[in-house]
Amino acid sequence: MSQTKIAVVYYSTYGTNVEIAKDAAAAAREAGADVRLVKFPETVPQAVIDGQEGWKANQDATADIPEVTHDDLVWADGLFFAVPTRFGQAASQVRAFIDSTGPLWFEGKLANKAVTATASASNVNGGVEATILGLYSSLMHWGAIVVPPGYADQCIFAAGGNPYGYTTKQGEYDEAGKAAVAFQAKRLVEFSGKIAS
Ligand SMILES: Cc1cc2nc3c(=O)[nH]c(=O)nc-3n(C[C@H](O)[C@H](O)[C@H](O)COP(=O)(O)O)c2cc1C
Repeated sequence: MSQTKIAVVYYSTYGTNVEIAKDAAAAAREAGADVRLVKFPETVPQAVIDGQEGWKANQDATADIPEVTHDDLVWADGLFFAVPTRFGQAASQVRAFIDSTGPLWFEGKLANKAVTATASASNVNGGVEATILGLYSSLMHWGAIVVPPGYADQCIFAAGGNPYGYTTKQGEYDEAGKAAVAFQAKRLVEFSGKIAS
């Protein structure tokens, strides 16, 4: 059986989701996968980013991480998404890229991908579950197969108990969260391999 291919795709303004994505990528590699760590393309004018110190610092710190392409989606057996909540849904940068996948969807090239997602927000009840479930419903249009963590491991309870995908408040991504992200990534590798075989 060939090596399972995983793309970890994130968007991050202030650094939370890039940290989650890096940990997910490391866990997927540890589970034996061939991994690409990529980010959703920025859509906001550079002048806006330059005007916010934290945003600019995160942009500079992640400049070496490539932007996701359609080829990454086609290549991958499984996709791990790490996204921030914006007004109760995934950031528009995420939505904009997903909206660009129409031709791939039309050709059936996104069907049968295993997918899983995590989300962050400023508030514990600020829309993280809606963000993950909203993303999953778009991915189901691709014919993707959702691989949620459920309560399949005790680490999920310790990290806040979200069965849809790991969620955190900005600034509170901790050791329990890291364990849950690693579990979710390894579970994605396992099921991506089964689906692709
Ligand atoms: C335009 C905008 C809308 C946001 N909407 C929400 C929201 O609906 N609920 C919430 O709790 N946090 C909201 N936030 C906070 C972000 O979710 C938070 O900054 C993000 O999850 C941090 O992730 P990052 O460090 O990877 O950028 C919003 C932030 C911005 C800039």
